[in-house]
Amino acid sequence: MSDVEQLVAAASAEFAGIDDAAQLEQVKARYLGKSGSLTELLKGLGKLPPEERKARGAAINSAKERIEAALQQRREAIRAAVLQAQLHAEALDVTLPGRGMGVGGLHPVTRTLERIEELFRSIGFDVADGPEIEDDFHNFTALNTPENHPARSMHDTFYIENTPGLLLRTHTSPIQVRHMESHKPPLRVIAPGRVYRVDSDATHSPMFHQVEGLWIDEDVSFADLKGVFTDFLRRFFEKPELRTRFRPSFFPFTEPSAEIDMSCVFCDEGGVNRGCRVCGHTGWLEIAGSGMVHPNVLRHVGIDSEKYIGFAFGMGPDRLTMLRYGVSDLRLFFDGDLRFLSQFK
Ligand code: PHE
Repeated sequence: MSDVEQLVAAASAEFAGIDDAAQLEQVKARYLGKSGSLTELLKGLGKLPPEERKARGAAINSAKERIEAALQQRREAIRAAVLQAQLHAEALDVTLPGRGMGVGGLHPVTRTLERIEELFRSIGFDVADGPEIEDDFHNFTALNTPENHPARSMHDTFYIENTPGLLLRTHTSPIQVRHMESHKPPLRVIAPGRVYRVDSDATHSPMFHQVEGLWIDEDVSFADLKGVFTDFLRRFFEKPELRTRFRPSFFPFTEPSAEIDMSCVFCDEGGVNRGCRVCGHTGWLEIAGSGMVHPNVLRHVGIDSEKYIGFAFGMGPDRLTMLRYGVSDLRLFFDGDLRFLSQFK
């Protein structure tokens, strides 16, 4: 084999053994660079007798072309290998099963509120709404609450700083007032919402829920209150044997007033309550305040109290939710812990 052919063979063999692009370029210089082997051969042409020069020159040029071709081939092979490795490393398995989406659910108290709305709608009640930041007039004065009533004290009510007369509503009763201001009797409405009081322990939260009920017409009686509310509780708890008890009480905006107790849903045995821990061994659970709307309240909103009469009640849906699902700590509803909440999905 001539020296030129040997050079082509050596270059081809050496290129073939290289996997690295940078190293390949270095090796290339040894053959094709300024002082590379092939260049040296070309330089030697001048010393040859003219008759040999042509053939030798052609041989060297052919060698150069073949070395360049081998180099180019190797470059492409290395580039393809690098690409292949990269594709492999970044491979995405589109056949992997997905991680699944978290499906949310309704808050247990929201479920209760929707259930209450549904039950009252079915007997012809509308659903009303009102602001959580109330004024003193709607929260207290229009509800016949005297200036010195303890509910107005700073201990019970959150007042808005630097804004006299504004407060976080302490009950849903102001919605009664607003509804009567803007609607003419007969009225049948419930009003669910958040209310606020300075109070916090296992059974009291500074924010909690109430549902207000109001029925005003020409001849609504206390018996209607008893019937409507007892029937509601029986349907809510799906317990036809559930009993209620109306205890005389006091609210400035109702006269007469009553605290509504229901027979304990945990220790009822065929219409008899033995008593248990939930009801404090009394067999009864306090569930709402109620009464016949005070004529002064009707007067405040311009309703003729000689012609119209009605009842109102305010109940605690948080308590109803605790009883319905057997939850013992009210704070669980407001902690936002998904381990608790996801049980209600
Ligand atoms: N607003 C009263 C409370 O928060 C409950 C109530 C409502 C009582 C309507 C009578 C009539 O305690």
